[in-house]
Amino acid sequence: MASLPPDRSVNLNWWRDAVFYQVYIRSFADADGDGVGDLRGLRQHLPYLRDLGIDALWITPFYPSPMVDHGYDVADPRGVDPLFGDLPEFDLLLTEAHAVGLRVTIDLVPNHVSALHPWFQLALAEDPGGPARRRFHFRPGRGEDGGRPPNNWQSTFGGPAWTRLPDGQWYLHLFAPEQPDLNWHHPDVAEDLARTMRFWLDRGVDGFRIDVAHGLAKDPELPDMPDPAAGWRLDNPDPDSPKPPRDPRFDDDGVHALHRGIRQTLDEYPGSMAVGEIWVDDDERFARYLRPDELHLGFNFKLLEADWDAAPLRAAIERSIISVESTGAPPCWVLSNHDRPRHVSRYGDGGKGQRRARAAALLMLALPGVAFHYYGEELGMPSVRLPDDALQDPVWQRSGQSERGRDSERVPMPWSGQSSPYAFSSGSTTWLPMPAGWAPITVDAQERDPASLLKLYRAALRLRRDHRGSPAGRVTWLDSPPGMLAFRCAGMTCAVNLGAAAAKLPKGSVLLSSVELAAGLLPVDAAAWLTEHSPPPAVTPG
Ligand code: GLC
Repeated sequence: MASLPPDRSVNLNWWRDAVFYQVYIRSFADADGDGVGDLRGLRQHLPYLRDLGIDALWITPFYPSPMVDHGYDVADPRGVDPLFGDLPEFDLLLTEAHAVGLRVTIDLVPNHVSALHPWFQLALAEDPGGPARRRFHFRPGRGEDGGRPPNNWQSTFGGPAWTRLPDGQWYLHLFAPEQPDLNWHHPDVAEDLARTMRFWLDRGVDGFRIDVAHGLAKDPELPDMPDPAAGWRLDNPDPDSPKPPRDPRFDDDGVHALHRGIRQTLDEYPGSMAVGEIWVDDDERFARYLRPDELHLGFNFKLLEADWDAAPLRAAIERSIISVESTGAPPCWVLSNHDRPRHVSRYGDGGKGQRRARAAALLMLALPGVAFHYYGEELGMPSVRLPDDALQDPVWQRSGQSERGRDSERVPMPWSGQSSPYAFSSGSTTWLPMPAGWAPITVDAQERDPASLLKLYRAALRLRRDHRGSPAGRVTWLDSPPGMLAFRCAGMTCAVNLGAAAAKLPKGSVLLSSVELAAGLLPVDAAAWLTEHSPPPAVTPG
């Protein structure tokens, strides 16, 4: 137990410019052959992650769970589901990750639990009004027979956010009915979360990603949503549409006291950190989560939401930087995660999507602050159109099969070989089917191709390390032709051509480029890093 990374006490701020690799545990590597990724599979691939050049892992939930929401329905936050391994296996993973210099962060899911959590089971066994029900949001219904939900809140997975029990009471679930929301006005809830945090911090984890960090607190009045038809999903509103009315399900003012409590526990462990999933579009309200006594980092999803176009990308970058300026927290970038279509596909799929993803890698890694990298991003994994009968995400059923859900971006990682399961598993089937035709994007194939995206990522991560250390990491925009974005940050220039024709590169010697360059021009959908200082030896991807 208790495995500390070599310099946790020396470098307390290790996270301020780190690159985190998100391991969607079900899909990274399966060591026991059951078709689902696990902790041992991850441990066996630590050398791969070390060589990639990332700094830290974020491992998605591996706790005991009935897996209705693939682990985000936690039945015991202080254990390991046998599907993924056991506690000794987790401790070994932690020790070995630290030994190769990787920090390890894990998910905390404080907004809700699984319906199989002992607290909810107790609540179900009780009569209406019983004390165990107060840890959740139980209410009588509306209408004469109480047959209508207590308010008009919608679940982010579709349908009403309330489910009625046979005894007539309703309970709140912002996600699936199997994920009852906790009542943070009940003292047990914060106490139990602190216990969970200490449980993992004592083992040596370096921090947490906090699920639905903007959701925990609810106005006890549970006021109606002004427009229940709008935004039932976890989303930021369309920036071009008029500002929607406040959604009372999220970003309640009471949430900040809860984050201050979480921070106090973290502060008992110097060098630990938390990053929050914060879907709050308003910059000023977003910044509140990053005050010095709240979260260390907040995902800013504006880059992930921006189209591949110069104006929206520049706006996303500027707003993300401005929104944290008053807080002292660094910006925190994301291109893809387990909830959104992968960026290769968002950018147009096929050759175009791949080309743009190469450029996007250089764009994101040149920006100041923290980058979160989704597993397989380094291979250019696209989202996969899966057959209807393969879909497992609760969104598919809850939306009346109108939304396909998030399975497409959760397909297992292809490691080597010519056909499924591409060495992801020693078994023959995988929890989501892996498509034919992935042989060229496997890790093994890309290892052998000097021009592969994997090699580009490695080279970029190496260079990024060499150029960090300018803590302010300010972005200075350079004058550039229409369609071109060019900025300087941390002693480097990054140029991305989002226009319709090749454009002249900014001044400087090229350090790295997403495609081969000629005649001082940057082709369409390409990016380059340049320096104006005397260049270090040229880097050949490898
Ligand atoms: C977060 C997770 C998502 C999950 C939801 C409910 O948004 O990222 O995957 O379904 O919370 O826990």
